[in-house]
Amino acid sequence: MSDKQPKIIILFGRSGCGKGTQVELLQKEFGFESLSSGKLLRQRVKVGDFSGKKIKEVMGKGKLIPSFLMFQIWIDRINEIRGKKDWKGLVIDGSPRILIEAKLMDEAFKWYGWEDIYPVLLDISRQGAFNRLTKRRICKECGQLIPWVGEFKNLKRCDLCNGELMVRLDDKPEAINARLDYYEKEVKQVVDHYQKQNRLIKVDGEKTIEDVYHDLKQAIL
Ligand code: AP5
Ligand code: MG
Repeated sequence: MSDKQPKIIILFGRSGCGKGTQVELLQKEFGFESLSSGKLLRQRVKVGDFSGKKIKEVMGKGKLIPSFLMFQIWIDRINEIRGKKDWKGLVIDGSPRILIEAKLMDEAFKWYGWEDIYPVLLDISRQGAFNRLTKRRICKECGQLIPWVGEFKNLKRCDLCNGELMVRLDDKPEAINARLDYYEKEVKQVVDHYQKQNRLIKVDGEKTIEDVYHDLKQAIL
């Protein structure tokens, strides 16, 4: 790591608000590292052990994974990133989701001496999120997200690698609703936490992908 403080961007909001989409754009343009909890959990499932099987079952229902497992996953990833030379920044996608995660993350940033932190809420309505998630497709091979906009609607296979397109395990209506329910109950407490600290940055997530990205960059650069 260089002497300059790394930029830490925390992207959170309702499921389907566009976290993954915006992380990819930030990575492409600025080479930031990412800590995407959902992605790391899906990789963890592939190990196929007892914890992996249990994670798959809970995620498939759209429920939250317990914090003790999340912390282990984050710390492993942070150690991996800290080991890299000259990393410029980190985008955290989808954590914290409950108040205790937010508080422990504050403690972790202090411990690592990171102060340049931007908690960004990508704000979209419940209905808007539901509509996006019921139509989302992803590439089975490379994981590219296929938005339900313009010419992407007609894609039969991935336009990057020709891989098969599939629906994510937790994009069934019941699991989508469960994820949107825990947003109201749990994630809103995280929003309040950052608001009380006067650190919350709100970006309108209902705009086009390009406009959201423009506003996000204005807020963090
Ligand atoms: P995670 O994988 O993070 O899922 P999520 O939070 O439900 O969010 P999604 O990935 O579904 O949506 P997104 O916001 O990334 O939107 P996307 O860019 O894909 O977590 C999954 C699960 O892991 C959780 O439910 C939980 O079980 C567990 N978990 C994770 N973190 C945890 C934690 N910290 N603690 C406990 N448990 C945890 O966009 C959605 C769609 O819309 C795509 O098709 C995209 O192309 C399209 N789109 C994006 N932006 C736009 C736009 N502006 N206009 C039009 N379309 C758009
Ligand atoms: Mg995502």
